[in-house]
Amino acid sequence: MGRKLVFNIFRYNPQDPDSKPHMDSFSLEETESMTLFIALNQIREEKDPSLQFDFCCRAGICGSCGMMINGRPGLACKTLTKELPDQITLMPLPIFKLIGDLSVDTGTWFRAMNEKVESWIHTNKEFDPNGPEDRMDNDLAEEIYELERCVECGCCVAGCGTANMREDFLGAVAMNRIARFMMDPRDERSGREYFEVIGTDEGIFGCMGLLGCEDVCPRQIPLQDQLGMLRRKMGWEAIKHLFRFKS
Ligand code: SF4
Ligand code: SF4
Ligand code: FES
Repeated sequence: MGRKLVFNIFRYNPQDPDSKPHMDSFSLEETESMTLFIALNQIREEKDPSLQFDFCCRAGICGSCGMMINGRPGLACKTLTKELPDQITLMPLPIFKLIGDLSVDTGTWFRAMNEKVESWIHTNKEFDPNGPEDRMDNDLAEEIYELERCVECGCCVAGCGTANMREDFLGAVAMNRIARFMMDPRDERSGREYFEVIGTDEGIFGCMGLLGCEDVCPRQIPLQDQLGMLRRKMGWEAIKHLFRFKS
């Protein structure tokens, strides 16, 4: 017989004027290889069909099942209950707009962030759809791919002290996007142009460097390296600007 697990789950429906934020408890018997995805579906099927939470891929690649699991941001589909104590508290990710219970709207936040950091290749080269593809060194392509593995789950944002205190903070995920474009030889932005986007308190200079973001990233993106690199580069840009050096 498996352990008896108790799930304490945040409940609130902002669309319903009669709804008040509270916690509901549900008991389940733990099964072999049970994930939080399996447990939440079982609760919804057997105990409360109104429970709201998000899932899509069940494989850690769509990024939609981020939630606070015993106080730590993580992906529910990748979390085995055997890694947790028998009392499990589930809360929605902070910072993002609550849709209901454990479901939050990360899409609006990520869209705004991607627009703010202009998360696309900036080039004056005209695109020729019939031309040959640009060649890229394999090692460099691998390095860019390493940063592209982000699934926009929001865990690093939810686990960030600065982002929790300041809603204008762009977060490690935005710095990771910028680091990705800096590496890409097709992006023609200058150091100064990058500085204008992230050389501020909303950007790299607002980061306290305690690396909660990297600790909770379910894709193990090397955020620490990107934050360190950007701090050095943007610090140098600030000095150049101060003394009017040319890049
Ligand atoms: S290192 Fe910076 S971005 Fe990462 S959690 Fe800390 S303040 Fe946030
Ligand atoms: S950097 Fe990691 S934690 Fe942050 S959004 Fe991307 S995958 Fe999620
Ligand atoms: S359901 Fe896609 S990451 Fe969890």
